Order: sequence, then C-alpha cells, then structure tokens
Amino acid sequence: MGAMASNEPQPRRTAPSLLRKAGTARRLARGGSSERAAGGAECRYLAVIMDGNGRWARRRHLPVAAGHRAGAKALRRLIERALDRGVLEVTVYSFSSENWRRPADEVGALMELFIEQIESQVPEVQSRGVRVQFVGRKEGVAAELLARIDAAEAANPVAPAMTMYIAFNYGGRDEIVDAARALAATVARASADAAAGGSARPLEELVCEDALRACLYAPEMHDPELLIRTSGEQRISNFLLWQLAYTELYFSAKLWPDFGPADLDEALAVYATRARRFGGR
Ligand code: IPE
Ligand code: IPE
Ligand code: MG
Repeated sequence: MGAMASNEPQPRRTAPSLLRKAGTARRLARGGSSERAAGGAECRYLAVIMDGNGRWARRRHLPVAAGHRAGAKALRRLIERALDRGVLEVTVYSFSSENWRRPADEVGALMELFIEQIESQVPEVQSRGVRVQFVGRKEGVAAELLARIDAAEAANPVAPAMTMYIAFNYGGRDEIVDAARALAATVARASADAAAGGSARPLEELVCEDALRACLYAPEMHDPELLIRTSGEQRISNFLLWQLAYTELYFSAKLWPDFGPADLDEALAVYATRARRFGGR
C-alpha cells in the first residue's frame, strides 16, 4: 500500500534545505532535467483529470456506470500511447475525496469497477512495464479494496518503463494536511530530543519546502509538466495542489471516454510550444 496515506510520520529523505535550494536553483538556471523549459520538449511527467464519464453516459441514455467503464477503457488506451511517447510518469485522478458525495449506487459501481480494473487492467499494464502506485488516503476505503491495492503494488515490474500513479480517495488539501501532520510529529520528536539534552535542529530546517515535499504521498513523483483535463471544465478540483505549482494546463472539450491517442498527441504537441519560465526570464 506504498503511497496510500497512513498517520506514520515519513522519514526525512532530503538533504538540508539550503543545500537543496541551491541545487534546485542551479538546476533551474541550467534548464535541469526535471524543470527544463518546454520549447519543443517532450513531456515526461503528465497528470490527467479524467472528467466527463457521467455526461458521456447521459448523452447515450446509459447508466452512469457505463460511462465509468468506458472511461476505464480510455485510460488503458492513454497508457499505451503514453508508453509509446516515452512519458515516464502519468498521474491520473480516479476518485477524489469529494466523490463520496455522489449517489450510493454510483459510488458502489465505481468501487466494483476499481476492483475489476485492479484485477484486469493493472496486471496488463504491469506486463507492459508500467509500475502502478496508488496515492490517497486509506480511511474510508473498504478493507477488501485496500488488500487488492497492496497486492497489485507488490506485483510491480522491477525495471519499469513508466510509473502510473493512481490518485484514489485523493484530495490535494488532504495530502498537504497529512504532510503537515507528519512534519508536526517530526517537530514534536525533535523538541523532545532537544529537551532531553540532544542537539536542537532549527525550525527552518525541520519545516521547509523540501521537508514538506518529502512527506507527500509519493515524494519521488515529479511535478507534472503538463496537466490535461477533459470535458470542458477548467478547474483543478483539488488535484495535486502542491505539485501543480508550475504545471502547464491543457483543457480539452472532449469527454474522457472519447479522449483517444490522437488527442494525447495533440496535447503533447501543444505542450511542446509552451515557454516555461518558473518565474524567471
Ligand atoms: C469523472 O467523470 C470520473 C469520476 C469523477 C470518478 P464524471 O463522473 O465526473 O463525469 P461528469 O463530470 O459527471 O460528466
Ligand atoms: C474530478 O472530477 C475528479 C475526478 C476526475 C476523479 P469531478 O467531476 O469530481 O470534479 P468537479 O466536481 O466537476 O469539480
Ligand atoms: Mg465530473
């Protein structure tokens, strides 16, 4: 259950903040690997808000579950194309922390579909070299589904070509709150150590950008270079609030089940025309 949130504080995995900051500044200055300006560049880190399943079904007078099923097929196609295009990470929004507000029968159908997809689609993409990792909170998720998520993650390829992060029971604010809680626990432990005669670490070192990032659900996830949202809605809906700080945004009017490989190609082509500045010149 790798990246699903637990209340355990995460170990610090980064160097002291000032050193890291200097490293980041140097990387930005020379157009380093993860933050290079687009200008014809390939997109390696992609995020997708797969929206519009409900409308797709309604337009066909089908039950909403049929829209979600068609959406799962569209995801399979997207992953295949992303692999072909050399994308290294794809983070998809599959169920938000707010989606529990939907009618019980829709939520039930979605949970059944997730179980089915974990049993069929996940092994399929893993055999294509895709590592699958779930990000989100565990609370509220059925034990049966959590067990399948754990089992799926345990079956990941050892030398993956791509990582698919599946945001499930995910909220960007939850993620930041969970990270803040983990940091608060670190600070409390450090205070107790200092009170017991240990060396005191400065607060700016304990609570800084790098320390917070290290407490996110998947600290190794790169900030997405491009976010695609389908269905014509132009909002973030609580997705990757921390990670999207400088992400290029691309909105497609297509409903998610209709979003095909050519649409991904078009989004990637648009990305390549964007000039990324990260606040600089
Ligand atoms: C996205 O499609 C899938 C989930 C939120 C699980 P929607 O179900 O939100 O589709 P619309 O927005 O109602 O058309
Ligand atoms: C975002 O879509 C969540 C997923 C795609 C899983 P929503 O349909 O839930 O977002 P809103 O309600 O239109 O903002
Ligand atoms: Mg929607």
